Amino acid sequence: MIRIAPSLLSANPLHVERDVLACQHAGADILHVDVMDGHFVPPITFGPALVQAIAGITTMPLDVHLMVTNPDHHIPQFAQAGAHWISVHAETCPHLHRTLESIKGHRCTAGVVLNPATPLEYAFEAAGAANFVLLMSVNPGYGGQAFITSFLRRCERLRTWLDAHGFSDVFIEVDGGIKIDNARSAADAGASVLVSGSGLFAGNLAENVAAMRAAVS
Ligand code: DX5
Ligand code: ZN
Repeated sequence: MIRIAPSLLSANPLHVERDVLACQHAGADILHVDVMDGHFVPPITFGPALVQAIAGITTMPLDVHLMVTNPDHHIPQFAQAGAHWISVHAETCPHLHRTLESIKGHRCTAGVVLNPATPLEYAFEAAGAANFVLLMSVNPGYGGQAFITSFLRRCERLRTWLDAHGFSDVFIEVDGGIKIDNARSAADAGASVLVSGSGLFAGNLAENVAAMRAAVS
């Protein structure tokens, strides 16, 4: 089953409630929330207070993508705010297994994120502790960037490796540059959660979610 996760980063910051409910009514499966600290990536975005507010108005699970240099410090706050999934960048975690265990200890689904140039071996080593791997298909920090096509062979290689090593239950999420016209190739490569910001919010959200769903089913 392919799950579609609109990215809050592309919502109108003056109309967050309207846009979150629009995602829900459009049939989106998950809401992707990009947390940026102005350090690991240049922009600053959302904090736990917004996650808590959104958790109070939607039934969609909240997928919190931490682009921060000290994720261990922030995990308890986001878990308490109502995050369902929390993912951390391997590039920011010197003690990755411990960090993933901390996420699960807060009763959240734990993901490890790899930038496009980070070797897949990090995911291989972390697979026993992670519930999912988020493969970036852009360098993190901004919406609306072009899809880096090397994602496709990385994703195929990761899916094959996970299945061959007893980690069939570890799922793959893709984030960055996913649009209606490349969603199918990402899914065929093994991604089962598709994050999309500008690809869904540009134009009519409900029509775009439906078109992406049709493209991958
Ligand atoms: C980028 C973020 C993405 C972003 C994707 O650093 O992690 O979640 O919202 O935006 P699009 O789909 O426009 O590339
Ligand atoms: Zn993201």
